[in-house]
Amino acid sequence: MKIINAPSLANCSFLDMGNQVKQLVDGKADWFHIDIMDGHYVPNLCFSVNIVGELKAAYPQVVTDIHLMVEDASAYIPRLVEKGADYISFHLDAERFARRLLTNIKSCGKKAGVVINPSQRIDVLMPVIDMVDYVVLMTVEPGYAGQKFMPESLPRLAELVELRKRSENPFLISIDGGVDMEHAAKCANLGAEIYVTGIFTVFNQPEGLEQACLTFKDKVMAGARSLAQSS
Ligand code: DX5
Ligand code: ZN
Repeated sequence: MKIINAPSLANCSFLDMGNQVKQLVDGKADWFHIDIMDGHYVPNLCFSVNIVGELKAAYPQVVTDIHLMVEDASAYIPRLVEKGADYISFHLDAERFARRLLTNIKSCGKKAGVVINPSQRIDVLMPVIDMVDYVVLMTVEPGYAGQKFMPESLPRLAELVELRKRSENPFLISIDGGVDMEHAAKCANLGAEIYVTGIFTVFNQPEGLEQACLTFKDKVMAGARSLAQSS
C-alpha cells in the first residue's frame, strides 16, 4: 500500500507559515500541496506562483504538487516550470484543450494531472486517460480549505480505480478535500495513493503538526488493514 502525505499549505497560518512548513518537513511530509486560485474559476484566492520557488529553494527534497484552480491554466505553466514545480494539475472543466496542455506540461519534464470535481462524471477522464501521471479526485467542491469530506466520493473513487485497472496507464490517484482519518482509511482500502491532508488530519491536531504528520501514514494503513480484514 502506497501512501503519499501531501499537506495542503492552504491550511497554514499566513503569519506563521515558515515555522509550520518546517514542522511539515520535520514530520516527513512527502509533498507540499499548493492551491493556486484566480478568483474566477473559484471565488477565492490562495497562493501566488512565487511560493513554489521559495519552497524549492528551502526544501528541494519535497515534491511540489500544484493544484491549479484557474480558468487559464496554460498561462501559468512557464512560470511554474521556472519556479521548480514538480507535479501540476488542472481542472478538466476549465480546459478546452486538455490533451495539448498535458503534452505541454510533460514536455517541460513535469508530471501532469487532471482534477475531477464532485459534480463531474468520472469517465470525463477517458479522452485523456492514456496521458495523465495522476488524477485528483475532489472530495469537496473546490475553492476552500476546511470543508467536510463528501462520503458520496467513495463509490466515485472505486469507479476511478476500476477505470485505472482497465487502462494501460498506472496513474496515481489523489484525494483532495476534507480528508479525515476515517475516510483516508477507506480511500486507502479502495486504492488511492496521494492524500491531500489538512485541517482534519495534520493541522490543528492536539499532538502538534510535526507529530500528526509523522503518524499519518501508519494510522491510515492500520485503518485500511482493519477495513480489509473486516470485509
Ligand atoms: C480545496 C483545496 C484543498 C484544501 C484541502 O479547494 O483544493 O487542497 O486546501 O484542505 P482541507 O483538507 O482542509 O479540505
Ligand atoms: Zn487542492
